[in-house]
Amino acid sequence: MKAKKQAKITIKNLNSCREYIPLVSKWLWKQWAKRHHQTLKEIIYRTEYFSGKKCPQVLIAFYNNHPAGTVSLLKTDHPYRQDLGPWLSFMFVLPKYRGKRIGQALQKALLETAQKAKFNKVYLMTDLKNYYEKSGWKFIESGLYTEGRITNFYEHKLPVKF
Ligand SMILES: CC(C)(COP(=O)(O)OP(=O)(O)OC[C@H]1O[C@@H](n2cnc3c(N)ncnc32)[C@H](O)[C@@H]1OP(=O)(O)O)[C@@H](O)C(=O)NCCC(=O)NCCS
Repeated sequence: MKAKKQAKITIKNLNSCREYIPLVSKWLWKQWAKRHHQTLKEIIYRTEYFSGKKCPQVLIAFYNNHPAGTVSLLKTDHPYRQDLGPWLSFMFVLPKYRGKRIGQALQKALLETAQKAKFNKVYLMTDLKNYYEKSGWKFIESGLYTEGRITNFYEHKLPVKF
């Protein structure tokens, strides 16, 4: 019987494979920006400048060499909480690749990236329940976001052993 080939998840910095900027931008536009009336062109422009060396940075995940997900390390991600940062933001896995631990791999790679950039903490905000806790994120508090919505803030201390 033929052995089943193990699936491979690879994470790269988008700065090292900039040809994927339009594709990653399209994912982010469809998932978040479109409903805020931002154009795809604006999101491509933003992603080009997100793809820097220290922060901001964008990561892309490949599943068996197919582009499958992304996450960003940003200086700011919240209009009122400028006291916090950097942030894990724009975490996204294509629907057909969900449930394959790509999200976990992206989080780990993002924390490694932040650690290399000498940050001692990373923040995120989310409405998801019991997702980030699985990777060691600690809930800090709930607070206001835009349009009167309430969101939950989490932090992850660094350094960690990978
Ligand atoms: C959330 C998201 C990134 C998860 O990606 P994924 O690659 O499917 O996640 P993983 O396979 O790494 O999941 C790891 C664990 O989290 C759980 N999980 C996955 N999605 C979850 C969700 N939406 N809520 C709670 N738990 C979730 C999995 O069941 C798995 O649990 P286990 O360890 O007990 O088996 C993906 O569903 C997505 O892109 N969603 C739309 C965008 C979004 O909501 N982004 C987050 C914004 S804060």
